[in-house]
Amino acid sequence: MMKTAARTAPAQLPVSLHTPAPYDGPSRDEVLAMRRQYLTPGLVTYYREPLLIAEGHMQYVWDEAGKQYLDAFAGIVTISVGHCHPTVVEKVREQLGRLQHTTTLYLHPAIGQLGKRLAEHMPEGSELSVSYFTNSGSEANEVAILSSREFTGNHEIISLRNAYHGGTQAAMGLTAHGTWKFKSSPVVGVKHATPGYCYRCPYGLEYPSCDVKCARDVADLIRYETPGEVACFIGEPIQGVGGAVTPPPEYFQIVYEIVRKYGGLCIADEVQTGFGRTGTAFWGFENWGVTPDIVTMAKGIANGAPLGACVTRPEIARVMTNRVHFNTFGGNPISMTQGLATLDVIDGESIQQNALVVGSHLKDRLLELQERQPMIGEVRGMGLMLGVELVRDRRSKEPASTETAELLELCKQRGLLIGKGGLAGNTLRIKPPMCLTRDDADFLVDCLDEVLTEIGARA
Ligand SMILES: Cc1ncc(COP(=O)(O)O)c(C=O)c1O
Repeated sequence: MMKTAARTAPAQLPVSLHTPAPYDGPSRDEVLAMRRQYLTPGLVTYYREPLLIAEGHMQYVWDEAGKQYLDAFAGIVTISVGHCHPTVVEKVREQLGRLQHTTTLYLHPAIGQLGKRLAEHMPEGSELSVSYFTNSGSEANEVAILSSREFTGNHEIISLRNAYHGGTQAAMGLTAHGTWKFKSSPVVGVKHATPGYCYRCPYGLEYPSCDVKCARDVADLIRYETPGEVACFIGEPIQGVGGAVTPPPEYFQIVYEIVRKYGGLCIADEVQTGFGRTGTAFWGFENWGVTPDIVTMAKGIANGAPLGACVTRPEIARVMTNRVHFNTFGGNPISMTQGLATLDVIDGESIQQNALVVGSHLKDRLLELQERQPMIGEVRGMGLMLGVELVRDRRSKEPASTETAELLELCKQRGLLIGKGGLAGNTLRIKPPMCLTRDDADFLVDCLDEVLTEIGARA
């Protein structure tokens, strides 16, 4: 890896060739006031001065004053191929003018076509070929849980600490141990195992001498805290909201084997890791040498449309006929068209390859930055699904939570939007649209360098 010296020139945001239309809507203050008066206070915003995003094009967005930003968080990993990607916009516009319908009671080609395309993207021989379409990742996980319980006849679910699986009742139950606001499981029948979070190993062990105890512990959890049988295990191949927590390579193989021994199905939540984001594989689970029984997906599947899916084998999918389960908008022609167009771009524009090449360059540069910036405790993740955990002290690993919040503010001033996550909100989440260029990646790292130096100087 080439070493670069500490920076002297200010980080330069690559200038987009796109010109945003003049903004003629209500002022930012008016928008904020409406939000405060008429919308639930449960909604949170980033930044001391919340940002109004008026327009987007590919990896960039513009505020109402026309200031350009690099969107390195992509609407929380939702924009997979680029804001308002022309191919996607054109196809959806055409479909909008032709038919918007909300029921699967009649036939329409797009739903079957997207089901077929998803099946074609699953590993050969996996039989993961049947889709149930929803409007969100939470709903897709609900369907996965329901199907597992119905298929196995078991009730108990194993999820992971530090996970995030959505905002519906069952999905909140899967989310555990202080991630965001869900402090404990409000749903019966969910047990939480330890994720492969080596940087903060709950057992105080080191990989590989630990023998991946976090994964093996699932056997004890099932033996002692369930009736000895489980319906399913659900895990994100790389934890997203939890801060790009990336397990040791054999973690999922060990867990899947144990869960299957006790009669359970294995669910991979690909809401963040799917569609080529990890660069080395189309699905996150493929990086770990496992094949799940059920795959759930959303966000990047349709470049911003409200679309989720639960994909499984025909024998598991069949159990849904035991249930009256109806989804009004699931499978509607507009979302289906957007999903198909997004897949066309992913396949046609080598998006996964770009995630690999630009993501590797970005990670290399972040690792190099770690050598100069003491606040960087760990750089982790794959492709364009990266995390940078910030600490006050590398020995004690005290989370640098307030510094992380400050860093986001300073990055915004310089035209860079990134996310934060992790148990203590001290991990930078870098998950840009997968059309990110090398120049964008360089700007991102230069900007972090500048801002970390500024925060370090204040300490
Ligand atoms: C891994 C994961 N699963 C599920 C969800 C829930 O998806 P949605 O917000 O579309 O319901 C999210 C959302 O952030 C997620 O990150």
